[in-house]
Amino acid sequence: MQKLKGKTALITGGSSGIGLATAQLFQAEGARVAVTGRSADSLRPTAAILGEQALLIPSDAADLQSIDQLMAEVSGSLGGLDILLLNAGIALPAPLESTNEDQFDTTVDTNFKGVFFAIQKALPLLRPGSSIIVTTSITNQLGSPNFSVYAACKAALRSLVSSLALELIPRQIRLNAVSPGPIATPMFDRFGLPTEASQAIKAQIQAKSPISRFGNPDEIAKVNLFLASDDSSYIVGEEIVVDGGMSLL
Ligand SMILES: NC(=O)c1ccc[n+]([C@@H]2O[C@H](COP(=O)([O-])OP(=O)(O)OC[C@H]3O[C@@H](n4cnc5c(N)ncnc54)[C@H](OP(=O)(O)O)[C@@H]3O)[C@@H](O)[C@H]2O)c1
Repeated sequence: MQKLKGKTALITGGSSGIGLATAQLFQAEGARVAVTGRSADSLRPTAAILGEQALLIPSDAADLQSIDQLMAEVSGSLGGLDILLLNAGIALPAPLESTNEDQFDTTVDTNFKGVFFAIQKALPLLRPGSSIIVTTSITNQLGSPNFSVYAACKAALRSLVSSLALELIPRQIRLNAVSPGPIATPMFDRFGLPTEASQAIKAQIQAKSPISRFGNPDEIAKVNLFLASDDSSYIVGEEIVVDGGMSLL
């Protein structure tokens, strides 16, 4: 039996990596899916993968006006929502001495501020029984040199999930988080580093991993499915770590 039959889902950052893998799984489990990416261009390959039944919406997760427009479009096309996966995120190297205010603000607006306001602005659309999932990261507990701002945003998200989960209970909405370890997605190629440097970073991560490999986006998608479905009906305000043991080190 399909676990999400008849449900509607909005996935931010659904054009790539974890978000795209989750959109495919949610569709296979019977959901009608809307996904966002930053531009029509970045969403073009997604159309071929998700097919005509998916709603593809260019929307900037860091911009409140854009989030308003997104919710209006989702409301018009889908009517309401049963699942909201707030997954859009950027991880850019930000060493302490060289990070300027613009870079700081872009990281915080995308990874933290936009998530808070997306939950707020989606509220009128979310039906009783809905599930909201936020993608955090194991960096929210680990020391992450050169990624301190990103890691701090993910720690803030973890805290937000605990507090808002309680605020949302009266509306019969569950809010939880999934905290990925290193997952093989295009994220590592977006650091703006020369190919050799990004390959060296990946090799270091793999060598450190207790199970000696990166996770696959599918392995996160399956946990998102669990939290999106009624299988997790008694789980509220939790963060599920999916990292091959990395955060145990
Ligand atoms: N991969 C990992 O090892 C890992 C580990 C822990 C946590 N995470 C988290 O997992 C989430 C997904 O990352 P990923 O690994 O799947 O990376 P990815 O392949 O780079 O995907 C990132 C997604 O976020 C979207 N996005 C970024 N900025 C956006 C913005 N301002 N507005 C709208 N969409 C935006 C991208 O859309 P466009 O490209 O279309 O603009 C893309 O769909 C992120 O929150 C990331 O922090 C990843």
